Amino acid sequence: MSAAKSEIKRVTTHILQEMKERGEKISMLTSYDFSMAKIIDAAGVDVLLVGDSASNVMAGHETTLPITLDQMIYHATGVVRAANRALIVVDIPFGSYQGSSSEALRSAIRIMKESGAHAVKMEGGIEIRESVIRVLSAGVPVMGHLGLTPQSIYKFGTYTVRAREEDEAKKLMEDAKLLEELGCFSVVLEKIPSQLAKKVAENLKIPVIGIGAGSHVDGQVLVMHDMLGINKDFNPRFLRRYADLHGTITHAVKNYIDDIKKARFPNEHESY
Ligand code: KIV
Repeated sequence: MSAAKSEIKRVTTHILQEMKERGEKISMLTSYDFSMAKIIDAAGVDVLLVGDSASNVMAGHETTLPITLDQMIYHATGVVRAANRALIVVDIPFGSYQGSSSEALRSAIRIMKESGAHAVKMEGGIEIRESVIRVLSAGVPVMGHLGLTPQSIYKFGTYTVRAREEDEAKKLMEDAKLLEELGCFSVVLEKIPSQLAKKVAENLKIPVIGIGAGSHVDGQVLVMHDMLGINKDFNPRFLRRYADLHGTITHAVKNYIDDIKKARFPNEHESY
């Protein structure tokens, strides 16, 4: 290991817990490949999520359902090779843990063994209790995911805000408490009312990370392609764009094409 590499302190689940305890917000961003993960990790993000949103932003599917365990492992291996500091969490994809707890365990072990990631994320509460217990029993840290859980999009029928009604809000709070009691190290809350997310974060000892869940949680996560402005067509209220890479890339590619057409590239300094 190089000197520079060994000096970098890896973020762990314990460090995230300490961050919550001292009120330091946690930054998390999705990542799916070596080159982008290298930039994002060096910029200092705390958690890299190899999200099954790869199904949307990398493969062009409409939902997260089609991505396979093999494909998730492929994305995760590139991210693991790139990142020296961030904790790396990988989504267990749809159909790889809901069937039985032994299937969940097999999937989690494959992710950990074949990619070298540090933790997995699973969507759901009481419905996946046995799977969460089994994965945790093998020593694999689990991050929960409640609220708008995209793997259940065909059950919801819409990407609208979840848990506005009292019954669903109550179940979400119970599920969050359950995930903590089972031993999850963190929970993601997606697209729920800010006041409900606040209550969950106040009631849980473990870090609560929000996406479209307001500011009163312990950290935030966004899909990298959305926050960098690579996607132009996705404009939810919760999204803040920190760059316009769609514009930057389009401009660069147009200039490249123009230079080729006009025989300005390559010039003599770019030739042998
Ligand atoms: O897959 C993903 O990108 C996610 C985030 C939206 C939390 O689960």
